[in-house]
Amino acid sequence: MFIKNTWYVAGWDYELIDGALLARTILNEKILLYKGADNAVVAMEDRCCHRGAALSQGRLEGNCVRCMYHGLLFDNTGACVEIPGQESIPPSLKVRSYPVETVGRLVWIWMGDKALANKADIPEFEYLTNPEWHGMPGYMHYKSNYQLITDNLADINHIAYVHTNTLGGSENYIAEQTQTPMERLENGFKLTKYHLNSDLPPFVRKFVKHMPKVDRWNTVKMLVPGFFFLESGFSPVGNGIEKGNREGSISFRNFQAMTPESETTTHFFWVYMHNQREDVDQISRSLSASILEGFYEDKAIIEKQQEVLDADPAFPLRAIAADAALSHLRWVVDQKIKKERAAA
Ligand code: FES
Ligand SMILES: [Fe+2]
Repeated sequence: MFIKNTWYVAGWDYELIDGALLARTILNEKILLYKGADNAVVAMEDRCCHRGAALSQGRLEGNCVRCMYHGLLFDNTGACVEIPGQESIPPSLKVRSYPVETVGRLVWIWMGDKALANKADIPEFEYLTNPEWHGMPGYMHYKSNYQLITDNLADINHIAYVHTNTLGGSENYIAEQTQTPMERLENGFKLTKYHLNSDLPPFVRKFVKHMPKVDRWNTVKMLVPGFFFLESGFSPVGNGIEKGNREGSISFRNFQAMTPESETTTHFFWVYMHNQREDVDQISRSLSASILEGFYEDKAIIEKQQEVLDADPAFPLRAIAADAALSHLRWVVDQKIKKERAAA
C-alpha cells in the first residue's frame, strides 16, 4: 500500500539525455519517461494501448513516441495521433499519462489524482542547483520495501554499528551523542544530533587533515513518503556548535529519496554535497565512493531483513525509545493512506 497523491522521484534528469526512453516501474506501474524535442519531460504508461507492447522499446519522434510493433504514434499526452494504414483514430485509443516535473535536477512524478498535483508541493533540495555546492548524483536499486530504508534513516544511531569503520567512526556514538527533541512536522520530523569532542569519521579524514578532534552535528529532516535531508558538519572542538557557531567548520548536504518500485523493491536516489573550493572534483568523487561504501553496508542488512520478514509476515515489529522518529513517520504514512482510501 502506497500514498498515491504525492510527488515521487522518478529519476535524475541526466537519465533522459540523448533521447533515452527510460522504462521504470513505480508503485507497481510500468512507466515510460522521456524528454521530447521541446525539452519537456513526459511520463506515460509503458504499455501500448493496441496490443500491450512496451513503448520503451519504441522510437522517439519529436515530442511523440512510436510503438515499434505496429507503428501507432502517441503524442506527449498519450493520445494516439497516427495509425499506419488507417484514416480515423478512435479517441479512446490513448495511453495514460502522468503529471511530471523537473525540479532541482530530479524528475518528479505524481501517481495519484491528476487534479491534485501541484508543483509547489515538490520537496526541493535546493543545493542541487546552487553552484557553490558539488556532488555526484547516485542511484541504487534495493530489494526491500521503501519503509525499511526510511526506518534505517530515521534512526541515525545505526551508524555506530553498521558504519563503524566508514561513516560513524565509533561504537561510542550512541552513548556519547546528544540530541534536540524531535520536532514533529505535519509531513515528517526534524532533529539535530551532536557528538562533541569526537574523532573525524574515516570518510572525512580522507581529505581533511587539520582537525583531529571535532564537534559533530547532524541535522536530519525527513518527509513522507520517503525523503531524507541531512545537514552534517564538523567543527573545531569547543566552538559552540550547539549555540549555532559554525565558524571554521566543514559541512555537507545530503539528500536521499526512496521511491517504491513494488512492495518489496525500491528505487534509491541520493547525492552527498560539499562546498569546498579546492580539489572540488576529487572531493566529490571521494565522498561519493565513501558514502556508497556506507550505503552497501545498509543495503546488506536491510535486504536480509526483508528476507527474514518475508519468511514470517506475522512477526510483530517492536519499538525502542530510539524509534520515536520512525514510528512518527510510519504513523503519518498510515494516516495519509487511510485518508486517501476514505476519499476514494
Ligand atoms: S502493440 Fe503497439 S502498435 Fe500494436
Ligand atoms: Fe546507514
